[in-house]
Amino acid sequence: MKHLLSTQDLSREDAIRILDTSEQMAATQDREIRKLPTLRGKTVVNLFFEDSTRTRISFEAAAKRLSADVINFGAKGSSVSKGESLKDTALTLQAMGADAVVIRHWASGAAERLATSGWMYGSVLNAGDGTHQHPTQALLDAFTMRKHLVDSPTGSDLAGLTVALVGDVLHSRVARSNIALLKTLGATVVVVSPPTLLPVGISQWGVKISHGLDAALDEHQIDAVMMLRVQRERMTGGGAQFFPSPEEYTRMFGLDGDRMRRLPDHGIVMHPGPMNRGLEITAEAADSARSVIVEQVSNGVAVRMAALYLLLAGEEGVQ
Ligand code: NCD
Repeated sequence: MKHLLSTQDLSREDAIRILDTSEQMAATQDREIRKLPTLRGKTVVNLFFEDSTRTRISFEAAAKRLSADVINFGAKGSSVSKGESLKDTALTLQAMGADAVVIRHWASGAAERLATSGWMYGSVLNAGDGTHQHPTQALLDAFTMRKHLVDSPTGSDLAGLTVALVGDVLHSRVARSNIALLKTLGATVVVVSPPTLLPVGISQWGVKISHGLDAALDEHQIDAVMMLRVQRERMTGGGAQFFPSPEEYTRMFGLDGDRMRRLPDHGIVMHPGPMNRGLEITAEAADSARSVIVEQVSNGVAVRMAALYLLLAGEEGVQ
């Protein structure tokens, strides 16, 4: 595997290899010295054209724990703000000897463009492109589900589990990446969303669709409920044309304590962050014992270590 662009490119075997390697990486993070020498001498560039907290810090921590040199490159404060193109940026990164570029970009397809353009030769890891894909998020979500919901995680997929993705699917690269990966891993996916926030053609995606969270909880035994952020920055006019009011959205699609208590005892609450507390999720649900939201963030480091390791160091085993 040279690049990690989309969960649609991952076979079941690829996905399980990444999850198992993440397991090994997570184990090294309990040691007193958490740094591994694996990527010594390699250069990883974090190229972020769009804002990010978790993903950027997590990729940086992952690369550093593998002893790579890390260069952080944000669009603000770089020549991108002077209008430099993706091509010229890529040529600069190539000239600096980047072995891997982690790219987040507002345009769907930007990561693939970088990987296939011939502008640079390193590996490309997609850290979120427009509304398209965010593969490491889906992998860390699957890793988190496997840990909580599968008896002996190593080597296993997610067959038999039902996962609900709730909210703004239309604008969510997290949802697209999760749907593809969850299906590859054998889970049943229930999408819970107002019709206005569903992508065109979703009926062909092999998911179940529900138009209210109460109805979804009535109809399905949900093992993991993944709340999606209402992405107001991708809606023109503050979201007015997508749902009648924030209160109405919360009433139909928000996760509160009462709805959370309708999950089975083992059911977990997930959110990729950043959360709109009070809109798609209440503080009671976000901060409850069932919430694995903070753990998703720490699992992200192990999963990104695994991805960098598998792309850059081959498969000699974690030292
Ligand atoms: C997500 C993203 O940026 O796509 N966040 C993340 O990576 N943790 C989801 C979001 O912004 O809602």
